[in-house]
This record gives sequence, structure tokens and C-alpha cells, in this order.
Amino acid sequence: MAQLKILVVDDEPGIRSGVTRILGNFHMTYPFMDEDYTFKILEAATGEEGIEIIDREMPDILLLDNKLPGIQGVEVLEYVRKKNYDIVVAMITSYASIDVAVRAHNDGAIDFIPKPFTPQELKASIEQITKQQYLRRITHKLKVEGKKVRFQFLSVLSHELKAPLNAIDGYLKMMQERQMGESVDDYTSAIERSLQRIESMRNLIMDLLDFTKVSFEKQIEKMQNVNLRELVSMAVVTVSPYAIHKDIHFVTDIRGCETIWADPNDFEIIMNNLVSNAVKYNNTGGTVTITVDCNDNEFSISVADTGIGINAADKDMLFEAFSRIKNDKTRNISGSGLGLSIVRKVVELYHGVINVESIPDRGSVFTVIIPTLQVTNIKTEL
Ligand SMILES: Nc1ncnc2c1ncn2[C@@H]1O[C@H](COP(=O)(O)OP(=O)(O)OP(=O)(O)O)[C@@H](O)[C@H]1O
Ligand SMILES: [Mg+2]
Repeated sequence: MAQLKILVVDDEPGIRSGVTRILGNFHMTYPFMDEDYTFKILEAATGEEGIEIIDREMPDILLLDNKLPGIQGVEVLEYVRKKNYDIVVAMITSYASIDVAVRAHNDGAIDFIPKPFTPQELKASIEQITKQQYLRRITHKLKVEGKKVRFQFLSVLSHELKAPLNAIDGYLKMMQERQMGESVDDYTSAIERSLQRIESMRNLIMDLLDFTKVSFEKQIEKMQNVNLRELVSMAVVTVSPYAIHKDIHFVTDIRGCETIWADPNDFEIIMNNLVSNAVKYNNTGGTVTITVDCNDNEFSISVADTGIGINAADKDMLFEAFSRIKNDKTRNISGSGLGLSIVRKVVELYHGVINVESIPDRGSVFTVIIPTLQVTNIKTEL
């Protein structure tokens, strides 16, 4: 159980005691937060008193009336911003003139709570504000730890999951209320769309799993013999429901060596992503050719497709997290734009490179090249 301090700065004693009463025994919880939050309320009747308490008590949240007897609320806000304090500020105000609102917003106020408010309204605002404060702090912490991408991933994930959930919710309500008729046939397209949405959520969740599996450090203790034939056939099996649907044909060619010494997880990620893209961005009836090769210097995986291809101008951005090519050909294909960025990270762990050659409307070849030393000789180094 964590406690957040809320300072309420308002010259109306009724507002101060109201906030204290309403939030005194309020506690909130969110599935993504580590613990429940309770609140300790501090009160100030003027801006000057507020600043004194801020310096002394370092509250987490500031509820600030603008119209105060001495210095105004926005000046207190300015003070907090100048000092760079880690406090989220919401203005409580009976009337917010546009210029006060703009000024407050520019100085970082994240919310306006209109007076008078009901207990429910105040609690709802505090929930939002607490969530913001939590996310701000997590962002800061993760940034410091150099894990910004992970955070970005989580926020995209939650955002991306919300949209399909809302859509499915809408379709189900439509059915519950029999809006289109009594027969299940009346809902074929709603059911189909719901299933598509579920499929894209599933893909996103798979990406999340990949993301958490990759530690972005090569873990020597996880290294083992990886059978290349199994690796390739697993990737083909994984994508086969979709491939069958699109009538995709696979050609596989494994030369040079049968096994490599590596973390199997890493190579599943590489293979699954490249093969799934080759199917996803292929044309119906197309072919995917998977070639794995090994010589004294290099180990390579190449995955070729006969699909939509990629313009030269778009090639560079493909490997950035969250980047997707948006055009008529990709409009109806869902994805998070994370797969290739994860692949590149994994490949770099093995000091390898990934590149792509492509001709629009003819197809693409993604090739991963890893120095043989990285996947065969580590065993003898142990
Ligand atoms: N084989 C391919 N042919 C054509 N375009 C491709 C191919 N592979 C990737 N792309 C393009 O590169 C973009 C990024 O690919 P990436 O795998 O990172 O993300 P995604 O497939 O959109 O989503 P995710 O893999 O996370 O489900 C894709 O959106 C697509 O536009
Ligand atoms: Mg992909």
C-alpha cells in the first residue's frame, strides 16, 4: 500500500475540508500498478502557505484554486515548474478564463476540476491524476534505466488493445440488443470483424511476449544446440493457419550445417518474424523461400517472398520500433510495427546484420548474416 500526498490550496474552508473528507478514506487500484494507493491530504488557505508546504512536504499531487487572496494559483504553478518538482498539478476552479487555462496548461497543469464537484467527480479526477503521476514516474524511471522503448511499447500496447476491445464490445452489445435482427446470420459481418480484431490483439500479445523474452543481453547459460530444421519447421507451423488461408507455398533449403550454438528463443524470434512477414505481406498463392546457410565465416538466414515489396525510400525505417509502411497495399494488414525492430536487436546481440532487398509488387528478401564465431565457437569459450 502506497500513500500519495495531496495538497489542496484553496481559500474556501469548505472545499478544503470537502477534499479531505472525500479522499481521506479513498483508495485506488489499477491492475498495472504494483500496489494500492491511499491519500494523505494537506491543506493550505493561500498560495504563500501552499509554497511553504510544498517545499517542506513535497506533495505528489497539487489541487490548486486559481483565485486566491495573495499570489494566484498560476503563480504557485509557475513556482512548482521552475523548481522542477515532481508534482502533478490540477486546477480546481469555479470559472476558468481562457487565458488562465492556457497559462496553467502551459505551465504543466494536467487537469481542471470544476467547482462545485460531487465526491464521484473528485474521485474520478484523482484517479486520472494518480494514473498520470504513476505513468510519469514510471517513464522517468525507465528512461533512466534506458528502457524507454519498453515503456513506449507498453503504452502503445494498452492503447492498441483498447481500440479492438471497444470494437468487440460494440459488436456484442449490438447482438445483445438484437439490433440487426433475430437470426445469427444477421451478424455474420460483426462476428467476422470481431474475430479479426481478436486476431490482431493476439498478434500484439505475441509481440509483447517476444519483447519480454528478449533481454537484449546474450545469456550464455541459455545457449544450446539449436536444430535448424526444427527451427524452420516450427516457424512454418506457427504461421500455417494464415498461410493456408492465403494459399502460400513454402520452399526450405538448409545447407552447410544442421545446428548452431545459440539461445533458441532468439532464433525463434528471428525466424518467426521474418516468416510471418513473408506470409503477411505476400499475395494469395505466393511463395515463401527460407534458406539457411553456414560457412566458415558466416551463418545466414534468408526469407524471400513474392509479395507486395517495399519502396526503396521506405527501407530504412522498417527496423525502427513501431514503424509500419502505410499505403493502399498494407491498409488492411494489421501489425504493431515492432517485429523487425525486435529482430534487429536480437541479430545485433550476435554482432550480425539484417538487410532487405525488394522490388515493389515482385517481393522482398530479408537476410540475416551473423559471424560464424558468434553461433558456433562460443561453446568452446565457456
Ligand atoms: N516481407 C515484407 N514485405 C513487404 N513489407 C514488409 C515485409 N516485412 C515487413 N514489411 C513492412 O515493414 C513494416 C514493419 O514490419 P514489422 O514486422 O516490424 O511490423 P508489422 O509486421 O507491421 O507488425 P508486427 O510484426 O509487430 O505484427 C510492416 O508494417 C510492413 O509495412
Ligand atoms: Mg511483422
